[in-house]
Order: sequence, then structure tokens, then C-alpha cells
Amino acid sequence: MPVNDDQFSSRGEYFESLEDIPVNPSQEPTLGDLIHRRFNRRELLKGALGVVAVGTLARLSLGGAAEAASAASGRSSSAAASDFAFDEIAHGVDQTHHVAPGYSADILIRWGDPVLKGAPAFDPMAQSTAAQLGQFGYNNDFVGFVPLPFGSDNGDHGLLCVNHEYTDEEVMFPGHGKHDTAFSKLTPELVDIEMACHGGSVIEVKKEGGKWRVVKDSRYARRISALDTAMRVAGPAAGHPRLQTAEDPSGAKVIGTVNNCAGGITPWGTYLMAEENFHYYFMGSLEGNPEKENYQRYGVPGNRYGWARYHKRFDLNAEPNAGNRYGWVVEVDPLDPDAMPVKRTALGRFKHEGAESIVNKDGRLVVYSGDDQRFEFLYKFVTEGRVDTRNRAANRDLLDAGTLYVARFDADGTLSWLPLVHGQGALTADNGFHSQADVVIEARRAATLLGATPMDRPEDVEPNPANGKVYVMLTNNSKRKAEAVDAANPRASNIWGHVLELTPDDGDHAATTARWDILVKAGNPADPAAAAMWNPATSGDGWFACPDNCAVDPQGRLWVTTDQGSKWKKASGTADGVWALDTQGTARGTGRMFFRVPVGAEMCGPCFTPDGKTLFVAVQHPATDGTKDFPGFERSSTFEDPATRWPDFKDGMPPRPSVVAITKDDGGVIGS
Ligand code: FEO
Ligand code: CA
Ligand code: CA
Repeated sequence: MPVNDDQFSSRGEYFESLEDIPVNPSQEPTLGDLIHRRFNRRELLKGALGVVAVGTLARLSLGGAAEAASAASGRSSSAAASDFAFDEIAHGVDQTHHVAPGYSADILIRWGDPVLKGAPAFDPMAQSTAAQLGQFGYNNDFVGFVPLPFGSDNGDHGLLCVNHEYTDEEVMFPGHGKHDTAFSKLTPELVDIEMACHGGSVIEVKKEGGKWRVVKDSRYARRISALDTAMRVAGPAAGHPRLQTAEDPSGAKVIGTVNNCAGGITPWGTYLMAEENFHYYFMGSLEGNPEKENYQRYGVPGNRYGWARYHKRFDLNAEPNAGNRYGWVVEVDPLDPDAMPVKRTALGRFKHEGAESIVNKDGRLVVYSGDDQRFEFLYKFVTEGRVDTRNRAANRDLLDAGTLYVARFDADGTLSWLPLVHGQGALTADNGFHSQADVVIEARRAATLLGATPMDRPEDVEPNPANGKVYVMLTNNSKRKAEAVDAANPRASNIWGHVLELTPDDGDHAATTARWDILVKAGNPADPAAAAMWNPATSGDGWFACPDNCAVDPQGRLWVTTDQGSKWKKASGTADGVWALDTQGTARGTGRMFFRVPVGAEMCGPCFTPDGKTLFVAVQHPATDGTKDFPGFERSSTFEDPATRWPDFKDGMPPRPSVVAITKDDGGVIGS
């Protein structure tokens, strides 16, 4: 596609620009939407609040509670009722990170640090594929913790499973300059280093004397990459002709995984890596390709990396089916470094943000997953079998059989989970679905046919075992038009995002219906144009924009992290970070700022140890996004001239994405 190379200084800005290309044709309001809009739920609640005493409002919806609290102006009482106790930090942006007073935020591992035995120390001027394959990858995103020994709830020792989502070559490689959309400088060696930087890392970590360290030469240490990690394909699409290539005529073995964003840890201790923007990696023509319409719905080919020049598995001209082999959830056993990762196709092919799960009351596993693109959908997968809590091996293929559902949000607060099952409803041969393989390969088209609700970019989805609810981060959607708003996506030009709360019927995550509500509408509550919705106890630093990842801590409290991209100044004016967000009582809907990233970074990977005493966070792409709005810098970063050299702050050392371990100085529980 035509791209003006001068426009984009960073990979991130280039990505954002191409997100403007719509792929879901079903953005127009349906008749049902129009009817629903006439009876806008928020308006109904407003009316109700006029006659309900403020003291009873905590039991109403969060929307109701927030508005009522606003009327009562009860800041002190709401603050007292908060489930969180820490002094918040201020909005702002500078070259380093900040954490609430009384806490330490220590760098645990950085891009290039050795993971595998024998890997060299990072030398930015002597990068090589061989070195990078043994070192910590780039752009750490998801962070998961598996306590050791397995089955314990040890908060001092475990395996950290970390995704490496993508690469930013303009700050990684000397002499590369701004994002090279023509790939003119991408040598085969640089491509292979980029591919080695993608994927995931498994590291063993230990807390001693109150401080975390990476265990050197651990037998669990592992690098998974886009370059050389072989994966098995399992589930309905395994071996299907639409997945077969010249390189892999079986259609059941893929080399590598890409754009691993968020993920999840299963109850049996495996690590789920979500393949998000898999379309970026493909090049080639769609003319004459029978998968053309399928690919167009996913933005394939994205032409954002030059890998296809040297690797046929990303070249659609050489391998017409290549685009069907990514966009899945990958399961990895971190306890067995020799176990081959598996792409679990039963969970559908889309831009999986994450894959967080919960054991349902009947023992089945329910995996929630958002499809992170404007006007795409929210999904869940319910396994057919039950989780075996005593024998982890018995769960080995649990994710291969079950039902994939997509969400329809109705204005009366009902959520219906629509089954994506071949032969049911419109998912028949008449519509090109000849088997369940076709349904999972084209999950988006199937979901549209069932009437799923196009959302404002579903990011992380996190079930809360403490209260049975589910939190859904909707990060933003600047393209939603006023005539296309609906009750669950209520703002046009929504550059701030919002957070939904789902309440499954009867506490049953496998049920086909749930209730939904809006917890907060992000953005500045003092700006009428934003039409934000927060508990008024929220301070001038407690509100955020663009919720992205989230975590529920062992106490059942919600923590939200943000990614505003290069729009940070317009969306909030602060760097991204971690915010605590109350979900219950009179404080419901109150935010509080806990951690802030350095300029140009986004905040990923919030992950608590089982004792709640450590919060691991992943600082992704420091120095890249929106540095033109960074006062005093006001230009794009390069390797030689970055907006920050976080976390090393050494001449010649580029900024490095890093995982940070946050602990309370008195050794207590985070946020207590
Ligand atoms: Fe990779 Fe949707 O963030
Ligand atoms: Ca995310
Ligand atoms: Ca993100």
C-alpha cells in the first residue's frame, strides 16, 4: 500500500497509521442498534438516580454509582472506602520510571540480557542472530508467573514467562534511522535478529533478601522465537489444506510465532502466547489467491516487516496459505524446555490480545480473548473437558476440544455468547464454511454473520476469581462515528477507551448469557468534551486513557495499564503507567496512579506473585512513541539519539525494553 515514508518516525507510529484501514465491513448500526440507542441505558439510569437515595447507589451499576457519587461530591468517604492504600504519583512524562512512595521498582531483565547458558552479554555494536537467540528478546509484553515448585503458591521463586511482541529497528540498530518502510537497510542478518527478538522467554527468578534476580543457567531457561522454534498445530484447523504450504505439506507444523502480545497462564502451569498483529509480517500479492477475502478481513499482507524477502513463509506469492498459519493462541509448557509449543486452533484465528482463563464452577476451563482492532469482537472459549487439578499431563490437549463463542452486547445490559459452531446458524457451506476448520480460520467473518457487536478495540480480558466478574479493556476507537455508537461503545471518536465489567449468569462462565456494565469511561473527567465517567473521588492523577493490559491481584483487586501510543498528549498528557481501579462499594470507579513509564514507552505485563507482594511490569518500547510531544526533545528517536536511554542511561547504550519488579519496602502486599 502507498506509504509516505517521511510521515513515520517510529515503528509504533507507522503501525498506528495503518490501523486506520478498516477491515470489518459491519460497522454500520443495525436496526437493533437503532432501537437500543433510543433507550440509551445511561439515560435510563440518570432518570432512576433522580429518585434514589445516594446511600443505596453502591448497589446499582457502576455507571449509576459514579454519577450519584458525583452528585453527592463524596470524595473523602469514597476515598476511605477504597480497597487500595498507597499514595499515588503524579501524571507527567520524563526520561525515567516512577513508582508510589514506599515502593521499589528494580530492573529485573533487559533486552539482550543472557537467558540461555553461554549467551553473551549484550553488546549493541556487535549484535548477531546467534547471540540474540540466547538473549532476552525485544518489547516485553505479557508477563506470567508459574511458582516453583509447581503446584505451590510460592511468591519468592518461580518461572517468568515473557512475550516479545515486536521490534523497533530505528532504536535497536546503529545507523538505521527512522522506521525504514522501504526495508532498504534490512539485511538478511538484521531480519534474522529481528525474528530472534520476537517470541518469548522463560526465565527462572528468585527473591532473596527482598530483591529479585534471574537464576543463571537455569534448566528451565528457554527462548521461543519467530526464527527457529518449531510448533505443532492442533485442533480443528490442524492439517487442513488451507494451512498447507510447500514448506509444510502437512499443514500441521509451523516455524515460529509472531507479535506475541498478552497471554495467560493456565491452571496446569502452561503459558499461552497470543498472536496479535500477525498480518504485519506478510508481503506479496493477493491477486489470484483464493484466500483473498479472508486475508483482507485481517489486513494480510501488512507489509510492515521485510522478512518475506528472505523467508518464504511470510511471502504470499511463494506460499499462498501462509497467512492462515498465524493469528492463533500458542501453548508452551515452561516446565519442560524440550516440549514443542502448540498452536491451539480451536480458540480461533484473530488478533488475539490475550488469553486469560478461569476454571468454571463445573470444572471446565473458560478462556477469554479480545480481538484487538477497531470494530472487532470479544470471544471466549469453553473447553469440552474438565481441568484435572491433580494430573497436569491429563490437561495436555484440553484446549483442542470445546466451543468458541463471540459476544453480542444488548442495550438492556444483557450479553449473549453466540456459538461459533460449524453447521449452526449461518455457519454452513452456503456461506463457505465446510467444517469447523473454516469457522476457526475465518473466525471474524463467522462472528459477523452471527451478529457479534463491533467493539472499541478489545484488549486484555481478565476474569476475577474473587468475585466471578470479568473485566474487559477497550482501549480506544477514534473511528467510531456518532451514528454508530451503541450502549456498550457509547462514545463517538473514542480516543480514551473504557472498561467493561461482565457478570456471568449464576456465576457460570460457561453460560451463554451474562450481564454487562461500564466500569469507567476513560479520559479527563474535568473535560466535558471527553464525557468521561469516573467516581468523583478520582484525583487529577487518578484517571487514565487507553486501558490496555490489566491484572487482578490475589486480593481480587483490579490494576489497569495503559497504551496511548503516539497520541499520549491528546489522550491524557501523561506517560502511560499502572493505575489501581476500585470495582466495589462507594469507591467503585476510582482510579489511582501507581507507576509511570519513561517517555515513549507503553505499560505491559502486569503480573502479581501469589502472595501479592511483587508486581512485575513490562516497560515496552521506551523512547519511541510520541517523542515529538516530549518537551525539550521534540523529535523522533534513533539509536544514536534516543529520547531516553532508560534503563541504563549509559552513553552508547540504546533504550532497552525491560521487566521491572515492584516490591513494597516494608515487604508487605502491594497496594496495602
Ligand atoms: Fe499488542 Fe493490543 O496490544
Ligand atoms: Ca495489550
Ligand atoms: Ca499493548
